[in-house]
Amino acid sequence: MTDEFPLVPAAPYGLPRVLALANQKGGVGKTTTAINLGTALAAIGESVLIVDLDPQGNASTGLGIDRRSRRVSTYDVLTGDVSLREAVLETAVPRLHIAPSTMDLSGLELELASQRDRAYRLRDAIRGLNGGRDSGSLDSRNETPYSYVLIDCPPSLNLITVNAMAAANAILVPLQCEFFALEGLSQLLKTVEQVRTTLNPQLTIHGIVLTMFDSRNNLSAQVVQDVRQFMGDKVYETIIPRNVRVSEAPSYGKPVLLYDLKCVGSQAYLRLASEIIQRERALRATAAA
Ligand SMILES: Nc1ncnc2c1ncn2[C@@H]1O[C@H](COP(=O)(O)OP(=O)(O)O)[C@@H](O)[C@H]1O
Ligand SMILES: [Mg+2]
Repeated sequence: MTDEFPLVPAAPYGLPRVLALANQKGGVGKTTTAINLGTALAAIGESVLIVDLDPQGNASTGLGIDRRSRRVSTYDVLTGDVSLREAVLETAVPRLHIAPSTMDLSGLELELASQRDRAYRLRDAIRGLNGGRDSGSLDSRNETPYSYVLIDCPPSLNLITVNAMAAANAILVPLQCEFFALEGLSQLLKTVEQVRTTLNPQLTIHGIVLTMFDSRNNLSAQVVQDVRQFMGDKVYETIIPRNVRVSEAPSYGKPVLLYDLKCVGSQAYLRLASEIIQRERALRATAAA
């Protein structure tokens, strides 16, 4: 199963690594992982941009971006009206920025239906991000070269998610430790494979992150075993526990690492970040060999 997704070389110099957080199921931890993995990567020293592609805008809200400050959003980026840089806002976390979303995104599919490049809107926007062709007019506030772009996808396999997959180097799949965890995974993997053969030949699965693990529940342990059996070493060693601090943090507009650094949820996201960086190093070493 895992052999279908070959290792990919690291991105060329100057381009960020683009990871899309995708799972067509809602409530599995995509947004929570985007926010807190982004924060943890930034805490380790990476420069991170979160691209909020869910019309619900939970990643934006969870990072304290109120609706009024979303005058320019990822909708405007995907319609081609503004560059991605122009949508970027700073967050309370140093080195962590976000391109926020609004409900406008929910109308995008119809609007772009007749456009030939409709699946490549985000890819092209990201190409211009780190000193690309359209960066000449930028103000210096936004000149950070990003090392990571994390895309928070909506809970469906629609044109927005396809844009994310076409723009990504790799997919990161949050999977909730519950009975139906594996249901839907084959469909997701099939879509990734379709995007790989048609739109983005370098696309790979970066890894699967098990979320909301409950140690008091035997079922959680069974799900971990099943998913590891099915997906092998594509599953990260780090497992994110169910932790009330993680779910409280967004209502304060904060990542859990700012809300309560010592809690088990924060510590798990820090471990996940270092595991991802290690995996990236291994990919680079393989590519260079
Ligand atoms: N590790 C966790 N512990 C407790 N609650 C969590 C955890 N991860 C996510 N949640 C909660 O589960 C719900 C769904 O998570 P979310 O990240 O929004 O999923 P998705 O983006 O896939 O729809 C949210 O209310 C979130 O606060
Ligand atoms: Mg979400």
